Amino acid sequence: MKKIAILTSGGDAPGMNAAIRAAVRYAIYVDMEVIGIARGYQGLLDEQMYNMDMRSVADIIQRGGTILRTARCPEFVTKEGQKKGVEILRKNDIDGVIVIGGDGSFMGAKALSELGIPTIGIPGTIDNDLAYTDYSIGFDTACNTILDAINKIRDTMTSHERFSIIEVMGRHCGDLALYTGVGGGAEIIIVPEHKLDIEKVCEKMRDSKKRGKMSGIILLAEGAGHAHSLAEEIKKHGEFSIRSSVLGHLQRGGSPSMKDRYLGTNMGVYAVKLLEQGIGNRIVGIRDNKFYDMDIVEGCAMKKEFNIDLYNLAGIVARNNMITIGN
Ligand code: F6P
Repeated sequence: MKKIAILTSGGDAPGMNAAIRAAVRYAIYVDMEVIGIARGYQGLLDEQMYNMDMRSVADIIQRGGTILRTARCPEFVTKEGQKKGVEILRKNDIDGVIVIGGDGSFMGAKALSELGIPTIGIPGTIDNDLAYTDYSIGFDTACNTILDAINKIRDTMTSHERFSIIEVMGRHCGDLALYTGVGGGAEIIIVPEHKLDIEKVCEKMRDSKKRGKMSGIILLAEGAGHAHSLAEEIKKHGEFSIRSSVLGHLQRGGSPSMKDRYLGTNMGVYAVKLLEQGIGNRIVGIRDNKFYDMDIVEGCAMKKEFNIDLYNLAGIVARNNMITIGN
């Protein structure tokens, strides 16, 4: 292939810039022309494209967000929108496309593949909700941001002998809550993969108080409930001093961690190498510490498995075994 395009789509994720930088630089290294498409699929439909060179990706590896910018594009979910996108790519002599994003973005990439444009997906989402890869770009940085927040909130909760509900992102996936619950030593972790039982949460807080532990962190994945309303429900019992925080979009920003720069750089190069060999319709991932690729249709059809071993382990290592397991 002689000319490829790259876009970022859906929610941004720290490390996307590392992937863009690596893909652009490797493509130029193997004499390919690279077109940056701004604002995801919306930018494709609006023909917001520009040539990228070595310098256009200088000084970005350490930046959060995406220099290509991103958008959610309802028009590209339609067959007409997808066909229009393909026509624009053909008109601009683009031989292949790299899409960096999450599950919604991959549906767009799959559509491009099915309509004859060789397309490669790179997983970029803080949610870590893509089944075919152990990690997506941005997850690690978001976890570190959440850990920092847990540490800070714990300081004040311990001083005031309070419980705190911390709501984290993740859409329908509990990974952000689960992994940071383990890393941050949360007393209770609530994930969408298990039904929320408020009575059980109260029971565990009660047990904890009986044992003399007057404070604790309840980590709540957004897909399982809302921090403020859960705190109100628990307050109704009249037994607990409880506060709530919603971390929100601060989880999506910030300078990418080493791991996300490593994933971004390797996956960016891997994607271009596939296109260089004329291979499209694949998604790049990491499994057991090895980068690999798989068929885009197959990968998109996979269902994410909840890490029940980690969840159970969290229950054992959380002091007083306060976690809500297996509702
Ligand atoms: O998919 C990433 C994500 O941050 C989810 O965790 C969250 O539910 C959603 O995007 C928020 O989307 P937006 O930034 O469009 O409000």
